[in-house]
Amino acid sequence: MSAVDDLLEGKDICICAGSGGVGKTTTSAAIAAGMAARGLRVCVLTIDPAKRLADSLGLKELGNEARQVDPALFAEQGVEIKGELWAMMLDAKATFDELVARQAPDEEARDRVLGNRIYQQISSALAGSQEYMAMEKLFELHTEDRFDLLVLDTPPTRNALDFLDAPKRLTQFIEGRSLRVFMKPTGFAAKVAGRGASVALSVFKRIVGFDLIADLAEFFNAFSGMVDGFQARARRVNSLLADRRTCFLVVCGPQGEPVDEAVYFHRKLVEAKLPFGGVIVNKVHYPAERLRGDGADLPAALAERLGDDLGSRVCENFADYQALAERDTRNIDRLAAELRTQAVIRVPYLDEDVHDLAGLAEINRYLFASAEQREARAAGRA
Ligand SMILES: Nc1ncnc2c1ncn2[C@@H]1O[C@H](COP(=O)(O)OP(=O)(O)OP(=O)(O)O)[C@@H](O)[C@H]1O
Ligand SMILES: [Mg+2]
Repeated sequence: MSAVDDLLEGKDICICAGSGGVGKTTTSAAIAAGMAARGLRVCVLTIDPAKRLADSLGLKELGNEARQVDPALFAEQGVEIKGELWAMMLDAKATFDELVARQAPDEEARDRVLGNRIYQQISSALAGSQEYMAMEKLFELHTEDRFDLLVLDTPPTRNALDFLDAPKRLTQFIEGRSLRVFMKPTGFAAKVAGRGASVALSVFKRIVGFDLIADLAEFFNAFSGMVDGFQARARRVNSLLADRRTCFLVVCGPQGEPVDEAVYFHRKLVEAKLPFGGVIVNKVHYPAERLRGDGADLPAALAERLGDDLGSRVCENFADYQALAERDTRNIDRLAAELRTQAVIRVPYLDEDVHDLAGLAEINRYLFASAEQREARAAGRA
């Protein structure tokens, strides 16, 4: 069984995908730190990290710019960063603006779109725009060639598949019938613009407070010149995702439902011919081998130490934990069998949230370990 550095050998891009709350942000940050420790120049693109984790990475605000994490902070945790660790917090709106600026034929067209109220709403509210913009930023950084490895955290979608569909949804929106209607020279927009002074529209304008229809028409007209550029770029982003130097890691929890979702997500990756690297099962309850070794004497031993009442309650609690651990083991075995992969890395449910560099270093003791080391360490913990 592999460690994360085996899975990422020769890769330029690592995408941590999975359902909401499973540990994508934590895992991405930990992987980036671990690979930087091994000598690579790594940049992690995070999305909505918990404030304390962002603080500990030195990410105080949304800058949409990569910042280097001070290696001295890791040295305090006994981790030597031989390469470089950079981190940035993705700002979907700012990325969209940058993209428009790049695709606009001239400054005037750019300013018309950026200053347009419809654009301002759409660029932050459009379904999937956050996912799409994450990939845009990835593409841009990849083109710049400043880093050996880019690690992409993915947005908190209810369903991991939303992320895969994002480029398609955005291009469908751009190519879509509604937009075409607006953009045809004889279409709705032109008609509306021609009748700008009509009574109905001026009433409407009074109600909504600004000239919504005129703004719409202007937005779609200004956008029309950029559609081809957007589409061409979306195709390049898609081919980057499918590149053999890209690696998708599926992050999931050990319960039945997350495992089902991971199986489904893996199937979709394969169908879309996207490169699957492995699965990270996070927050696993490991069987407590040390206590199990005491076997049937455990209740008696606990009763003697703690008294009958507390002893039996601790015993019950332990039995519950063991049941959870057995359930997790069964689910993970099923996951490995369904995915026909050995690349399943288990990370235990730690006693505390992971919000600082010490927490990331602890996660990396599992991510970057051989299966044997991992098992030994986890058994020691439990
Ligand atoms: N192995 C672990 N043990 C204990 N706590 C963990 C572990 N991994 C992550 N956590 C905690 O679980 C919470 C969720 O983790 P994280 O934010 O990484 O998930 P996510 O998949 O990025 O969530 P979202 O989908 O909302 O973006 C965080 O509070 C984090 O500190
Ligand atoms: Mg997250």
